[in-house]
Amino acid sequence: MAKQDNYPARSVYKLEEVQKKYGILKKGNKVLDLGCQPGSWSMYAAGIVGASGQVVGVDLTDVMIGRPASSAGSAIRFICADIMMPETITLIKAIQSRFDIVLSDIAPRTTSSKWADQQRSLALSIQTHAVAVELLKSGGNYYCKVFEGEGFKDFFDAVRRDFRVAKIVKPQSSRKESREVFVLGIDYIGSRTGEPE
Ligand SMILES: C[S@@+](CC[C@H](N)C(=O)[O-])C[C@H]1O[C@@H](n2cnc3c(N)ncnc32)[C@H](O)[C@@H]1O
Repeated sequence: MAKQDNYPARSVYKLEEVQKKYGILKKGNKVLDLGCQPGSWSMYAAGIVGASGQVVGVDLTDVMIGRPASSAGSAIRFICADIMMPETITLIKAIQSRFDIVLSDIAPRTTSSKWADQQRSLALSIQTHAVAVELLKSGGNYYCKVFEGEGFKDFFDAVRRDFRVAKIVKPQSSRKESREVFVLGIDYIGSRTGEPE
């Protein structure tokens, strides 16, 4: 289905579904897409935010994006970097200092240990939350994939403190047997320290 719609990955439906229900992406938005390759979420977001918006995608691998999504969409700027490295924030800020929404579909490379995979996913998610706290505008949104398991509740509680509304979402397009869920934060209210917006 994703191929028919010209998206490189079926994961696009996990964003489309939440967009249809909650309208988290809006025309003109500045979007940060963490773990963006092969580019479906960035392409989908670029189509919604349009030419007045911007999408910045970050990933360890650089397979395909970094080109305009479509004539009607915004240009996608791509940064090849590890979100666990502190200097990645500096690279992002060099393009855009504040975002309306931070997306993360980041997934660790899986191993034979389900526990280790879940813990790695959690560590990546905690980092995407830290990036969101640093870069979101007041009132901004956050949508992040994470594997449920040990430590998940503390992560969700931290997100809950920073957003007016926080939800755990399991899109229909996510396999039922998978421990993957998405944490949605709507309306950033967290008190970031540092420079004003
Ligand atoms: C499921 S894919 C994302 C699919 C994407 N949302 C799409 O729709 O095309 C997960 C991505 O997370 C990236 N990733 C994993 N660890 C990362 C890290 N530490 N920093 C940046 N990207 C990372 C992987 O390289 C992979 O491309």
